[in-house]
Amino acid sequence: TGGFTGQITLDGPSGTGKSSVARGVAARLGAAYLDTGAMYRAATVAVLDAGVGLDDEIAVARAVTGARIEVGTDAGTEVVRVDGVDVAERIRGAEVTRAVSPVSAVPAVRRHLVAQQRDLVAEADAVVVEGRDIGTVVLPDATLKIYLTAAPEVRAQRRAGQLGVTDPDKIAALAQDLRRRDEYDSSRADSPLRPAADAVVVDSTDLDQQGVVARIVELAASTVGAG
Ligand code: DC
Repeated sequence: TGGFTGQITLDGPSGTGKSSVARGVAARLGAAYLDTGAMYRAATVAVLDAGVGLDDEIAVARAVTGARIEVGTDAGTEVVRVDGVDVAERIRGAEVTRAVSPVSAVPAVRRHLVAQQRDLVAEADAVVVEGRDIGTVVLPDATLKIYLTAAPEVRAQRRAGQLGVTDPDKIAALAQDLRRRDEYDSSRADSPLRPAADAVVVDSTDLDQQGVVARIVELAASTVGAG
């Protein structure tokens, strides 16, 4: 598969296995990997620690732009820091997950992080970038754009598996939570979640993670030397 240079964008809702797929593709191609969701989550840590109200857009934006947010670009290791403090575990917790949608809907927050994302991408010859608006807004000229989807029930089951949840009521609550977050992310005014016009839509409902990675690596190989 060697020889890929360029940018692969991987967008889609949560619970599609996007992160594992993105890391897998980056590892196979020897490419860098950027998890932009981790950046919005780290920004949310800064907001929570500043103690400002989530509905105070100006204070939220100030908390984010005033914080030093660092995210690594190595597919094999996860580095996430806010003002030098390791928050890699904290960003996956319930508190951050609940607050991240409103924080990521603030235009000044998005502008700030998008600029940082473009700087990080510019440093890499080959990179896989995961998020919601990468193909539509962050990297409109990317080499290959993938939009990953899966049926909502399948996504809730996968999320439950990751969290070790088996109680059907709790799985139903997870599904509800996923739907609410998708709805919020898809309907916000700034950079809503949607496939780019030139994205390849990959449905992972009936594919395992390796199948999805193989499909994307194949698509990437077909771009080598194509342009
Ligand atoms: O992929 P994730 O669950 O870690 O993303 C966390 C939140 O950040 C999610 O609610 C949507 C938002 N997000 C965004 O608005 N734009 C991105 N490029 C990535 C994530």
